[in-house]
Amino acid sequence: MASYLQIADDEKGYDLDLFCVPRHYEKDLDKVIIPHGLIMDRTERLARDIVRDMGGHHIVALCVLKGGYKFFADLLDYIKTLNQNSDKSVPLTVDFIRIKSYCNDKSSDVVKVFGGDELSGLSGKHVLIVEDIVETGRTMQTLLALLSESRPKMVKVVSSPSLLLGFSSLLVKRTPRSCGYRPDYVGFEVPDAFLVGYALDYNEYFRDLSHICILNDEAKEKYKV
Ligand code: IMP
Ligand code: MG
Repeated sequence: MASYLQIADDEKGYDLDLFCVPRHYEKDLDKVIIPHGLIMDRTERLARDIVRDMGGHHIVALCVLKGGYKFFADLLDYIKTLNQNSDKSVPLTVDFIRIKSYCNDKSSDVVKVFGGDELSGLSGKHVLIVEDIVETGRTMQTLLALLSESRPKMVKVVSSPSLLLGFSSLLVKRTPRSCGYRPDYVGFEVPDAFLVGYALDYNEYFRDLSHICILNDEAKEKYKV
């Protein structure tokens, strides 16, 4: 099982006043749970683990939009730095897919995939899926089923089930709703709360926040659709 940094259920987090948070969100957030600096430090280590495991192969990094874009960009920057400074290096190309399964703060049964028809181009490639957060695991299962149709050589998820298809996720939520699916690379295991920031959104808001924070109940009402 992939190692990860565990954020406890009773984690107190940090006062918002101690960090820089956009003024327009100050009243919407309770606490900073994972400061941006810690996300970056953990991502740097995931990059090292990925290059250790996949080094030598050409990797297609597949970003799951929209929530995965910050983690994807930062993870790839760290992999690039490793490529420039070590003997083992990995040629990287990128691809993007958009998946939508959430409305308000609930994961729905309907997982919509946009741009999936281009996945046939991944056939025979080593694919590293980069996702923001795994909660029930339904989104990941849908994507892995799609990918197995296009038969890539190796899929790993950085938020993943087997080393032959690489899957990385920045976050995995500790929840009884989980189908038990675990990515190959996991940044943090987080409590069963709704998190925003670092590209994770609530109805498209809060992607423009650097730290990962807990949303308060008033904000859930304010931005509800
Ligand atoms: P799953 O299909 O239930 O595993 O949900 C995964 C997707 O739901 C993620 O890719 C996110 O886009 C979204 N999601 C799950 N939990 C959260 C959260 O706490 N904040 C923001 N988005 C979330
Ligand atoms: Mg996502």
